[in-house]
Amino acid sequence: MVMAAHRTGGLVGKVSVITGVASGIGRATALAFARAGALVVGGDQDEVGGRETARLISDATGVTIVFLPTDVTSGHEVARLIQTAVDAHGHLDALFNNVGVNLVRMVPDVTEEEWDATIDTNLKSVFLGCKFAIPHLARAGGGAIVNNASNAGIIGRPGDPVYCASKHGIIGLTRSLALGHGPQGIRVNAICPGPIETPMIKAMRANASDTAAFDRNVAGQTALKRIGTADEVADLVAFLCSDSARNITGAAIPIDGGKAAGMIPGMIVPS
Ligand SMILES: NC(=O)c1ccc[n+]([C@@H]2O[C@H](COP(=O)([O-])OP(=O)(O)OC[C@H]3O[C@@H](n4cnc5c(N)ncnc54)[C@H](O)[C@@H]3O)[C@@H](O)[C@H]2O)c1
Repeated sequence: MVMAAHRTGGLVGKVSVITGVASGIGRATALAFARAGALVVGGDQDEVGGRETARLISDATGVTIVFLPTDVTSGHEVARLIQTAVDAHGHLDALFNNVGVNLVRMVPDVTEEEWDATIDTNLKSVFLGCKFAIPHLARAGGGAIVNNASNAGIIGRPGDPVYCASKHGIIGLTRSLALGHGPQGIRVNAICPGPIETPMIKAMRANASDTAAFDRNVAGQTALKRIGTADEVADLVAFLCSDSARNITGAAIPIDGGKAAGMIPGMIVPS
């Protein structure tokens, strides 16, 4: 039993809800979970991208995932996403609150509407996912929640303070939920990716005047001098949702090539 759990990453048959599956880290995680035998229900507001993810997973693994168009800022829609998983499989084991959007703008230039939209998408969405998942996880005798924060959740950054605020908020919520619901067997962790090659970073690169310099700058801010991959992040989420992580909760785990470890000598501060 233990051996089998180890070989498979311990996700076989685990009913898992993942948000933001149309792209990047969410798509890679849905694929990793499907490969590991989890029963995946994915949500995203991008219906075309979400259906494309389901097709890619089916082509690659033969596994069918359920995709539901979902705006994670809507309580009604997040509740429906989680209920869909419970209706399909009878219970819930894991939730990955993954959706997030960046806002690269100094505070005096941020409108109230942009503040609300960024906080709603990045932080309220995590509150909603946890709010609707926790009663089901408790009924199942426990389970795992992973919230996608960022380096920006553990260090300040000059160029995207509203994003930083939302990601710091995720880590405070994660730690508090871990303490509050640990006695119910519910583990709640945050991951803190550094630069990861996804459409989010591609969009920033596209706005740079010198894309090679952008890459050198971004990779140069890490100790390992590299931009990570979505598959690497997916592996961490799979581990945290597996029984192998049974004693890990309330953690905010960097997966960032060492970027948040401290100042890199000669570090270039992004604009
Ligand atoms: N890529 C990085 O370098 C990096 C670094 C640190 C943290 N992160 C975090 O990882 C997470 C995923 O980022 P990514 O790089 O895969 O980005 P991405 O842009 O590739 O994917 C984000 C997904 O979220 C979906 N989405 C956005 N708003 C939504 C909403 N209101 N409702 C439902 N879906 C919505 C988008 O349609 C998209 O599919 C985010 O929380 C991000 O902050 C990314």
